[in-house]
Amino acid sequence: MIQTILLKNRPKGKPTLSDFQFVEEKKDLNLQEGEILLETTYISVDPYLRGRMSDAKSYVPPFEVGKPITSGIVAKVIDSQNDKFQQGDYVSGMMDWKTQQISKGEGLLKINKDLAPLSAYLGILGMTGLTAYCGLTQIGKPKAWETLVVSGAAGAVGSVVGQIGKILGLYVVGIAGTDEKVAMLTSDFGFDHAINYNTTEDMGTALKTACPDGIDIYFDNVGGPISDAVLFNINKFARMIICGAISVYNNTEIPKSISVHPFLVKNSALMQGFIVSNYSEKFPEAMKQLSTWLMEGKLTYKETVVEGFENTPQAFLDLFEGKNKGKMIVKV
Ligand SMILES: NC(=O)c1ccc[n+]([C@@H]2O[C@H](COP(=O)([O-])OP(=O)(O)OC[C@H]3O[C@@H](n4cnc5c(N)ncnc54)[C@H](OP(=O)(O)O)[C@@H]3O)[C@@H](O)[C@H]2O)c1
Repeated sequence: MIQTILLKNRPKGKPTLSDFQFVEEKKDLNLQEGEILLETTYISVDPYLRGRMSDAKSYVPPFEVGKPITSGIVAKVIDSQNDKFQQGDYVSGMMDWKTQQISKGEGLLKINKDLAPLSAYLGILGMTGLTAYCGLTQIGKPKAWETLVVSGAAGAVGSVVGQIGKILGLYVVGIAGTDEKVAMLTSDFGFDHAINYNTTEDMGTALKTACPDGIDIYFDNVGGPISDAVLFNINKFARMIICGAISVYNNTEIPKSISVHPFLVKNSALMQGFIVSNYSEKFPEAMKQLSTWLMEGKLTYKETVVEGFENTPQAFLDLFEGKNKGKMIVKV
């Protein structure tokens, strides 16, 4: 039986399980010359998929209603009519939410399960690790002793950003949503300080206390009021790296925010959004550096692994409830 998860409806506001549809079919998948048969091993669920569920214009085309959702996947080659792939190889790349599928191998990367656990290729050695490295180094241009603040700090991207900050000699403050996550940031990831935004009434004052020398770099994963509070504490020539804005992804109206202009002008500050693929020419360097730090024990990572293909939509929805620590992954 081959199982597929389709987009059933375009969600209004927060997505729900009823926006997804399961299809099961008994089908023999016969390969043509050049094709490979893949069995899904791990599925990455990511906040950006919310954007693709809507039909608003963006940097990638929206998912089509009635068609499979796609995301980063690690799969095993179980049959091959393609010289570049052998039975037993593992690959990563963008694939459909299916238990099995045929591919021509285009855009798929062979991965080495002896170098790192397979799931790591969806996180620290995959898109989220590259996002952390490229965003921080290319836009943040960090210098030792500067102060870096990271929001969404206990998640896949944020936890790597903070650790890279520490490796590069920065003073690092993380913002996350539970006491457990905040404790994890300082104890497991080596952040200097962490703030629970859900129990802090005045984020502006909390940031001022946590960052006595002001904020030089802000790596923003969440947007909204947390990021507004950061603006009041930025230094001259601060760099604000706009990676994501999960706090507003489910909004049905344009969010109200303070005007950033006076803060940018007064501080000669930079605010720049980015998409990780902007830096694709940097990926080999980034992969080499991330895997070296990982092997040297300078970088570590956490995963929240949800078992079962059928739980993929729920794992995705749980990102918006902060149920993950580190990378949220489904093990099929
Ligand atoms: N620009 C790019 O190329 C690129 C690439 C990858 C990811 N991203 C973006 O980077 C951000 C992080 O992605 P990720 O994959 O690493 O996800 P993640 O941080 O592992 O998971 C999402 C986290 O967001 C937090 N969150 C949920 N609702 C929130 C709210 N209303 N306010 C504040 N925090 C909230 C939750 O943690 P708490 O418990 O702390 O609330 C949750 O665990 C997302 O915005 C994503 O879209 C951008």
